[in-house]
Amino acid sequence: MALNISSPADFHVHLRQGSFSELITPHVRKGGFHLAYVMPNLKPPITTTDQALKYKADLQKIDSDVEYLMTLYLSPDLTPEEIRKASAAGIVGVKSYPRGVTTNSDGGIESYEAYYPVFEAMQEVDMVLNLHGEVPSDTKTNIHVLNAEVQFLPHLFKLHHAFPRLRIVLEHATTRAAIEAVKSCGPTVACTITAHHLALVVDDWAGQSWNFCKPVAKYPDDREALRSVIKEGHPRFFLGSDSAPHPPHTKSTSTPTHACAAGIYTSPILLPLVADLLHSFGALQNLVGFVSDFGRSFYRRPARDGKTVQLRKIEGGYLVEERYIQGQDELVPFWAGKRLNWKIVE
Ligand code: NCD
Ligand code: DOR
Ligand code: ZN
Ligand code: ZN
Repeated sequence: MALNISSPADFHVHLRQGSFSELITPHVRKGGFHLAYVMPNLKPPITTTDQALKYKADLQKIDSDVEYLMTLYLSPDLTPEEIRKASAAGIVGVKSYPRGVTTNSDGGIESYEAYYPVFEAMQEVDMVLNLHGEVPSDTKTNIHVLNAEVQFLPHLFKLHHAFPRLRIVLEHATTRAAIEAVKSCGPTVACTITAHHLALVVDDWAGQSWNFCKPVAKYPDDREALRSVIKEGHPRFFLGSDSAPHPPHTKSTSTPTHACAAGIYTSPILLPLVADLLHSFGALQNLVGFVSDFGRSFYRRPARDGKTVQLRKIEGGYLVEERYIQGQDELVPFWAGKRLNWKIVE
C-alpha cells in the first residue's frame, strides 16, 4: 500500500545554528518535508530583517531544496518600520514567547498592549503572528505547566478581537480548551499541532525527560481533542512539528539546580511518524490536509506541481535510528528504537 502526499510543509520547526544546524537541517527533507517555517529563538534571537535573511542564507547553504519561511522574535526591538521592511523582504511571521516559558525565551514578551503598533503594522502588511500560547508559571496565582495554556487563551481572544484581520496561529496546542478556542475564532485564526502531542500524555513525560517539552503533553482527554479535530479534517488545524533538538546531555541530565531541556526531536522521522499516528486513530484519510493542504492554504503557499512524497507501508515495520552523529554533535530522535510502519520511498 502506498500514499502520495503533495509537498509536505512543517509550519513550526527549530533549525538552530552552527554545527547543530548542519546536522539537523537536512533532516527536514529526510523526514519528508519540502517547507520549513523556521523559529527565531536562536542565541541571540532573530529580531531583525537582516538577521533573518542571513539565517535563511545559512540554511539554504546547508540544503537549498527546502523552502524556508522566516520569522522574527517579538521583542521591544521590533518596530512598525522593521515590520514593513521584513514583509518587503519576504519574512512571513513574528513569533511571540512569553518571558521565561521555554527554551531561549528570557527575552520574550510580558504584555501585549505595548506591541499593538507592531501588530497594527503586521495586519496592514499581512504578516502572521505566531503565539507560544502559555503564560509564565507563578505559584502565587496557581499557574503551572498544566494550566499555562488554558490561562493563555484570553490573550488569544483579546488579540483576535483587537486585530480581526491579523492572521494568528496558536502554536503547538495541547488542550481541548485550546482546540475549542481556536474553533470559535474567525478564519484568520489557525492552530498548529505537533506529532508528539498526538502521541504523548502527562504520564509519558513524568519521569521520562526525553518526552519533556513545552507546552507539556496534557491529559488523555486533551489528546483526544487534538486527534478529533484532525479526524474531522478541520482546515484551520495543521502540522507544526515543533521539532526542537537538544544535545543528549541536556535532555538526560537533571540535577537539583538544572532541569532538563524542553524539546522533542521529530524532524528526521516526521512524515512516517505522523502517518503512523493518524492511522492509529483512524484519520489517515486526512493526512494530506493535515501535513500539506491546510497549512499551505492558511499561509498561501500552494504546493508546486509534481512535488509529491510517497509513503509505503512496510510489512512488520522498521526501527527508528537510536541516534544521529556528525562530528562532535549527537542527537537522539523521538521514537528512537521503536517501530514505524510507513516509510518514505526514496
Ligand atoms: C519554542 C517554540 O515554540 O518555538 N518552544 C516551543 O516551541 N515549544 C520554542 C519555541 O517555543 O519555539
Ligand atoms: O519544547 C520546546 N522546545 N518548546 C519550545 O517552546 C521551544 C523549544 C526549543 O526551542 O527547544
Ligand atoms: Zn513555542
Ligand atoms: Zn517551538
